[in-house]
Amino acid sequence: MADGSTPLAFSAAVEAATSPIWDKVKARVTPLEWRLQAPLIAAINDLKRQKNAVILAHNYMTPEIFHGVGDFVGDSLGLAREAARSDAAIIVQAGVLFMAETSKVLCPDKTVLIPDPLAGCSLAASITGADVRLIRQRHPGLPIVAYVNTTAEVKAEVDICCTSANAVQVVEQIAREWGVSRVVLLPDEFLARNVARQTDIGIVAWQGRCEVHERFDAADIAELRAAYPGADILAHPECPTEVLEASDFAGSTAAMTDYVMHRKPRQVVLITECSMADNVACDAPETEFIRPCNLCPHMKRISLENIYEALLHDRYEVTVDADIADRARLAVQRMIDLPPPAAPARYDLVKARHHVDVELI
Ligand code: 13P
Ligand code: SF4
Repeated sequence: MADGSTPLAFSAAVEAATSPIWDKVKARVTPLEWRLQAPLIAAINDLKRQKNAVILAHNYMTPEIFHGVGDFVGDSLGLAREAARSDAAIIVQAGVLFMAETSKVLCPDKTVLIPDPLAGCSLAASITGADVRLIRQRHPGLPIVAYVNTTAEVKAEVDICCTSANAVQVVEQIAREWGVSRVVLLPDEFLARNVARQTDIGIVAWQGRCEVHERFDAADIAELRAAYPGADILAHPECPTEVLEASDFAGSTAAMTDYVMHRKPRQVVLITECSMADNVACDAPETEFIRPCNLCPHMKRISLENIYEALLHDRYEVTVDADIADRARLAVQRMIDLPPPAAPARYDLVKARHHVDVELI
């Protein structure tokens, strides 16, 4: 380093280089933790400059990653859009494997690295390309929409992708284009049920679940209401419908951030992965965050240490078979080409109280 100290020591140079980040995260990170994290943050940010690399960090990354080294941060839709327009030589995905695959599909000529290739997802693991081919046989004439939380192999078999931020828009658009009144939306059963309540389009769903969001139930929300009567309760649409019904607001992780930053509630509960509240709290000091915590074990595989190793040794490189990538790109690009929402989509919970059933495969 410039001052001649050991590269990963907490030197005066490291302290100076990272002090704006410390100011942001100090409400969530202890000084003892910071002495270990700051040298890694400084080293990662140096390596990014040397190698023309960018880090795409999902909202579920811990604050030292999200605020310390993320060049682009956000929800799955935002990160896919950033990957598509990035001119960096290397993309490091601080998120899970399906996100890194999406970046590789959109940027086949770039090196895409994932710090831990075992960072999976219960939704992505719930369905294969062969399953989608069978669904196509069973429902000829229906368009198939895949949540981005799927493998590239699954994306290659579908007509368009969506995220929780645009699922209703995508379902309605593809139904219009195909001239149909039913659409297959896979693999998240709860997202499908929550989308079905926002639209007149009939939904055929697969029984996949997010292992983080499926654990919340209406009793959790009732307990939170009793303990914190003034708190605004915000839920992710991967939660069961009964959770959304009991909440004040539902939307993607970006929509939740938007809600807190614009409405500035005095107390808020984010019914989603734990790190999300920590990250938003760093930018919203006037709001008190109540944390009913569910960790995503896959997201938590990503650390400053393995991001540093990834950049240092160019590992682990994400590859997608060229034929699969070409077909998956059509589905992802169709989603990206839709007009971006003016603000992240919110689920209308009043409309959602009308019961609409989905057809389960
Ligand atoms: P969004 O960031 O798109 O809301 O997705 C949440 C999630 O669970 C990603 O794995
Ligand atoms: Fe998958 Fe759920 Fe983890 Fe997101 S939070 S990566 S959907 S298991």
